[in-house]
Amino acid sequence: MSYPYQIKSLADYHEAYKKSVEAPEQFWAEIAENFSWHRKWDQVLNWNFDTPKVEWFKGGQLNITENCLDRHAATQPDAPAIIWEPNDPLEAHRTLSYKELLQKVEQFAHVLKNKGAQKGDRICIYMPMVPELAIAVLACARIGAIHSVVFGGFSSQSISDRINDAQCNIVVTADGAYRGNKNIPLKSIIDDALVTCPSVQHVIVLTRTGIPVSMIKNRDAWWEDEIKKVEEMGNPSFPAVSMDAEDMLFILYTSGSTGKPKGVVHTCAGYMIWTHYTFVNVFQYQPGQVHFCTADIGWITGHSYIIYGPLSAGATSLMFEGIPTWPDAGRFWDIVQKHQVNILYTAPTAIRSLMGFGTAPLENKNLSSLKVLGTVGEPINVEAWHWYDEQVGKKQCPIVDTWWQTETGGTMISNMAGVTPAKPSFATLPMPGVQPLLVDENGKEIIGNGVSGNLCIRFPWPGILRTTYGDHERCRQTYFSTYEHLYFTGDGCLRDEDGNYRITGRVDDVLNVSGHRIGTAEVENAINMHTGVVESAVVGYPHDIKGQGIYAFVIFNGMHTDEAHTRQDIMQTVARVIGAIAKPDKIQFVSGLPKTRSGKIMRRILRKIAEGELSHLGDTTTLLDPAVVEEIKMGRL
Ligand code: WTA
Repeated sequence: MSYPYQIKSLADYHEAYKKSVEAPEQFWAEIAENFSWHRKWDQVLNWNFDTPKVEWFKGGQLNITENCLDRHAATQPDAPAIIWEPNDPLEAHRTLSYKELLQKVEQFAHVLKNKGAQKGDRICIYMPMVPELAIAVLACARIGAIHSVVFGGFSSQSISDRINDAQCNIVVTADGAYRGNKNIPLKSIIDDALVTCPSVQHVIVLTRTGIPVSMIKNRDAWWEDEIKKVEEMGNPSFPAVSMDAEDMLFILYTSGSTGKPKGVVHTCAGYMIWTHYTFVNVFQYQPGQVHFCTADIGWITGHSYIIYGPLSAGATSLMFEGIPTWPDAGRFWDIVQKHQVNILYTAPTAIRSLMGFGTAPLENKNLSSLKVLGTVGEPINVEAWHWYDEQVGKKQCPIVDTWWQTETGGTMISNMAGVTPAKPSFATLPMPGVQPLLVDENGKEIIGNGVSGNLCIRFPWPGILRTTYGDHERCRQTYFSTYEHLYFTGDGCLRDEDGNYRITGRVDDVLNVSGHRIGTAEVENAINMHTGVVESAVVGYPHDIKGQGIYAFVIFNGMHTDEAHTRQDIMQTVARVIGAIAKPDKIQFVSGLPKTRSGKIMRRILRKIAEGELSHLGDTTTLLDPAVVEEIKMGRL
């Protein structure tokens, strides 16, 4: 496949950018012409950020899986679509060509249909990182069902909240998952979740680990048995269902400032074009290259840059089931060498954690296939950037620092590998179609360079979220009401003298722990469920590997057998309510929290204490009880 819209030089970039701002409709229509449509659109863009309403390619009809599968199966049937590397290096890897992947997606589309799935249904997917996860996602898209993938690290409670919010009728899962030396009982976690999910009628269970599971009559079925039924039907093809450009493609839940995660909604055409365009340009993908994105498909990065972006480009996408440090800290490098990986896209957390093992795991590993490196999910510190550049890229590979969000669908601000300049710890320049601006507290635009403020976007791009599932008003309030007529990202940002953007981190109550978004309110709600906890306040603090750690201040009036034990109980409660990823790193017991006279917790003060900035707490005179601050400072962990 060729990519006529692939930007080849800095001058190309400036030209494309200018056109995307001056004539956005023409710009995106020309790109959209390169995809397969059942019917062309009536109108390229219709939008209003106040409602908000954004429609791209309205009236157009298509199916994203034809763009990701059929057209490549026709032109390059034997090209590898997915290379799958298992958790355990002793297990054989698998390669699925475009032809095979299409066949498997069609088979599973039949399975879903046999279970009664229809266009518009919501289907929850809770699976390990195996090819069948990608197959299930694409099969949903093929029949027009809306997938809601839930990351394998979430608890039963989190899953049932998500299933109930979207009213899913089918769940696709596996018996268990391997992660390093752990064996996670996925089906059993789903069984606990489903006790409170009356909407679910069918559960399809893939065999992965072989641990015993309970299969409920008339509800649960084995993946393999259902596939056999389709084979007995003679493996008929499954014509892709025609979708409106603005029909929902998927829901992905993400954390915000309030306690309840919100279901970010992306639609078919705009998301497809955005992930494709950014994939091809940011990584400068060349046909035949192997792209290895280490994210989990449970997060947006996996949706956009393991599945939809690469497959829409006819690329080879490497999918890895395991973790970077098992069986040893050389696992990534072994994979790069074994599969001749050309593009490696990972998180700063992973880089920092591998840095901790020194350079020994890299010795004798042939990384010469690497051409491009990328990072995503959190700010990368300059030290980690240089380590990545020197030890992994051997100073031969451009590093792209891609800033984006679940809500933006794909990369928004990033350099383009080898085409636009990189600057360590800077995401640098906006993609064509992205119009960023910085605003002050009052929403006034901050003009000029060498400035910082809150990052907003003033014009829609094709991959912008359309709504939050079942609650459009929440979408408006969260993203479009803080600043008039603007999309607010929740991130703080600075713009250097040359106009390069550097994301400095969240300015709302969202933590970024190991690149995972976690709301402080969510963690507080979970802690408060523990018997004996009166109240809690959670803030982030700088953490060498995770980027941010979770620091919880807890008022406890239950019986302590001993504090360490109570801490463990609270951790267990959080793991049970949200998942292990949200466990606090530190829990400090306090007798009170710093509050204003109106009862609002002064998080600013707690944040400073957690960061260890004890002498710069700012004005504490407005506090109800200033003495409590002294006590908290004394007890700091
Ligand atoms: C942060 C992940 C600095 C940011 C794709 C954003 C980053 C949040 C970068 C979204 C980056 C993501 N540099 N910060 N290159 N990329 N972030 O929704 O705070 O899981 O708002 O999407 O991650 O996280 P999410």
